[in-house]
This record gives sequence, C-alpha cells and structure tokens, in this order.
Amino acid sequence: MAASSVSAMSPLCSLIAVFLLVTRVKGGASPPHILLVVVDDLGWSDVGFHGSKIQTPNIDKLAAEGVVLDNYYVLPICTPTRSALMTGRYPIHTGMQHFVLYPASPYGLPLNFTTLPQKLKESGYATHMVGKWHLGYNKWAYTPTYRGFDSFYGYYNGAEDHYTHKVWDILDFRDNKEAVRDLEGRFGTFAFAERAKEIIKSHNSSNPLFLYMAFQNVHGPVEAPQKYTDKYSFIEDETRRTYAGMVDIVDEAVGNITEAMKDAGLWEDTLMVLTTDNGGGTCDHATSPLDDDDLSISIYEGIALRAGDMKLLMSVGNDTWFKPPELGGKPDKKQDIPHGKYEEIDWLATATKGTGSLLDVALYNITADPTEHEDLSEKLPDVVKALQARVQYYMKGAVPSLYRPNDPKAFIKAALDGVWTPWED
Ligand SMILES: *[C@@H]1O[C@H](CO)[C@@H](O)[C@H](O)[C@H]1NC(C)=O
Ligand SMILES: *[C@@H]1O[C@H](CO)[C@@H](O)[C@H](O)[C@H]1NC(C)=O
Ligand SMILES: *[C@@H]1O[C@H](CO)[C@@H](O)[C@H](O)[C@H]1NC(C)=O
Ligand SMILES: *[C@@H]1O[C@H](CO)[C@@H](O)[C@H](O)[C@H]1NC(C)=O
Ligand SMILES: *[C@@H]1O[C@H](CO)[C@@H](O)[C@H](O)[C@H]1NC(C)=O
Repeated sequence: MAASSVSAMSPLCSLIAVFLLVTRVKGGASPPHILLVVVDDLGWSDVGFHGSKIQTPNIDKLAAEGVVLDNYYVLPICTPTRSALMTGRYPIHTGMQHFVLYPASPYGLPLNFTTLPQKLKESGYATHMVGKWHLGYNKWAYTPTYRGFDSFYGYYNGAEDHYTHKVWDILDFRDNKEAVRDLEGRFGTFAFAERAKEIIKSHNSSNPLFLYMAFQNVHGPVEAPQKYTDKYSFIEDETRRTYAGMVDIVDEAVGNITEAMKDAGLWEDTLMVLTTDNGGGTCDHATSPLDDDDLSISIYEGIALRAGDMKLLMSVGNDTWFKPPELGGKPDKKQDIPHGKYEEIDWLATATKGTGSLLDVALYNITADPTEHEDLSEKLPDVVKALQARVQYYMKGAVPSLYRPNDPKAFIKAALDGVWTPWED
C-alpha cells in the first residue's frame, strides 16, 4: 500500500462548491431511480472535464451526456452541506451550521426534520445509503436506518483511515447497526462500490430505487492503493500523486456502479446527481477555484447571497485569513484553524457577533466578473438594499448552532465496544 497521511484529523480541509452533474437518461411514467453521488472534498480542477491530468473517464462521460452546473453553492464543510442535502434546509435553519461533527459530538441533525429518504419512502422508494453519514449518532435515532434509509453500509464520522476504518484510533464502520470488524487492510472504496453493486443487483426494478452513494474519497487521510497512484508517476509531489490515485479510484467506482445499473436494467430510467460536499482542501493537495490563493476551508465571504447575475457579500472578515484576496487576504494553508475561529464557519455567529473589523458589503456581477474583482456596491445601492433585505428575511428563520463540545462518555463507550457507538441510549 502506498499511503501518506497529511494530518491525522483533517475534516478541516475543504472549500467551496465544485460542480453538480445531473444526468437523466430517459423519462418514464413511474418515478425515476435516483443515484445521488457525493465525492468528499473533490477539487474543482481535479476532474478530466475541468482539464485535469487526473483521469476521470467515467465522470467525464457522464458530464458530456448530462448537465454540468459549474456555478452552484454548497457550504464550506462537510456536516453543514450534508445536513442541507438531507433536509433541503439551509443549516442556519436546522442548527447544523457549526463546523463538522466530531466522533464525540453529543448532537446531530435534529430528529424533527424530515429527511430526503423519508420523503422518498413515502413515494414508494427503496432507500439505501453507502458511505459517510456525518450527521450525528449520539443516539441510535440519529443514525441512517432511523432517518429513512432501509439500509446503511458505512461510517458515522469523517476523516477516517481508508484502510483501518478508524477515526481517532477507533473503528467506525457499520452494516446497518452491526459493527463491521473484518475490513482491516481493505481500501474502503472497493467495499463501498461492491455494496452498491449488491444493492443494485438485488433491487426489484418495478420499484423506484434511491441510492445515496456518499464516497469516502477523496477526503484525507490521503491514501490510495499503489496500482492507482503508479499511473501518476509524472506528479512529483507524493501527496498530490496519492490524491490523484484517490480521484482515479473513485472514478472507477462510479463507472462500476453505473455499469451495474445498466446491467440491472435500471439506468435508462435513472436520475443521477454527482456533487461534492465542499470542494478541494489544499491541505489534501486538491485544487480549488481559488487555487492560487491557497484558500482552504473558510467562509471568507462572510454572508454570501446570489440572485441572478449578482452576488452580495456581507460581514466579510477584514482582519483574519478570511479576508478576500483582492484585499490582500492570504491564509496560511499550513495552519489549522484555531478553535476560537470555528465560530467563523458559523454563518449566524459571523453575522451577529462578528470577529474584529468587518467589511460590510461588496457586490459583484458574477456573469461579467466571475472572479469577483470589481465591487459594484457603491454603483448599485438599490441592488445592495434589495439583497440585504433578502438576507434579513433568511436571518429571521435562523436558529442558534447546536454545537456542544465533545462528550467524554462517547470515548468510554467506544473504548468498551471497540467501535464508535451511540452512547446516549
Ligand atoms: C424542529 O425543532 C426546532 C427546535 O425546537 C425548531 O426550531 C424547528 O422549527 C423544528 N422543525 C420542524 C420542521 O418542525
Ligand atoms: C417486484 O415488485 C413488484 C411490485 O411491488 C411485485 O409485484 C413483484 O412480485 C416483485 N418481484 C419480485 C421478484 O419480488
Ligand atoms: C470495478 O470493477 C472491477 C471489475 O469487477 C474491479 O476489478 C475493480 O476493483 C472495481 N473497482 C472499484 C473501485 O470498485
Ligand atoms: C479593513 O482593513 C483595512 C486594512 O487593514 C482597513 O484600512 C479598513 O478600514 C478595514 N475595513 C473595515 C470595514 O474594517
Ligand atoms: C451583469 O453582466 C452581464 C454581462 O456583462 C450583463 O449582461 C448584465 O446586464 C449584468 N447584470 C446586472 C444586473 O447588471
């Protein structure tokens, strides 16, 4: 195995939307099957159809046949984005806006919010989830099979090792509710793709299928089997080369899964969506649209609201590394975010409390100025006013973050069971 680890715990590593790829092959009278693929932390420039040297022939083909949404928005990190994906609600409305969940975080996506699989089940779907949950597991009620999924095969947390399936040195892998203890040494993607294939194969095609394929790739620790990194020997940087292998293997898995859907006769009536949860983390040597600026995980934009051509920024930190590059902001990518700064990931906290001096407002015409260099806020005060009013509207529904520090009881339960396990039941 060719493995290199950048940092033991790097859910810190993230940024900005990559792309959403939608492909619908054919319409039918019954609801379509849905294949929802999330590639964790995939960098913007790390797919073939964005010009990468990393080979992603399967994803490229889907992009060519589908619709590419190159310009849509997600949250800057995992848990908030996934909470939105599962509920259709912005994290400020569910309390999930504060950073990512840790293995001992005593909270999760509140149980009173209906999830996407719950809704799909009401419409007759079989619902299956493979991969990363990261929306809480302090009680069983928070885990996938209690949140609308018929089956779950994967892990509750983030940033676990791809071979040992451990996070913070403790196993995190489940088949439904059962701990999976015999995968040591097997690179996770193979197990995930294989489970997806089994689900597809055994699915009764007269019923609609919802498969949520939440890949562990290409999140750190940066690890990949040598077979997949060898073809990138032209990449000198070892971490970047390994990262390339991780992208390569996830593309192969996407190919295998879509092939399985074809073999099962499902594909012609499948809606497939492929997205990332936030985009590439430079600490994992992924790329981001702001590559040159080395920005990883941040909401350096403060509050951002997009309406048509126009994008409003408010409350942009002006004395931190979240400062926009055009104002001289230059974050230090080697430095983790100090704990006090987590609040700045929290939209509401940023807006209401702020930290240091804030740049009040900026306005860009994204169509004319996609890299956001010409601030039009003084030229177009009415647009600013209208968008600010809209921000106020959203703010009215904002709830405080549910964040609570790690619960020591979680560690005790995990140590006893040898696997991260709900500890509050
Ligand atoms: C869920 O409960 C929270 C906290 O009581 C509340 O703010 C929210 O509106 C509730 N959501 C739904 C969908 O009922
Ligand atoms: C598949 O599902 C349909 C509709 O629910 C049912 O009539 C049929 O018996 C099922 N086929 C198998 C092989 O279970
Ligand atoms: C894809 O399928 C091939 C053929 O079965 C297999 O050798 C390969 O390991 C699979 N790749 C992944 C990532 O699952
Ligand atoms: C932002 O920082 C610059 C440079 O330090 C300073 O001149 C400016 O007044 C600050 N703006 C605000 C809104 O705090
Ligand atoms: C934004 O720029 C585009 C392209 O130059 C232009 O067509 C459009 O009218 C502008 N939008 C606004 C709201 O000014």
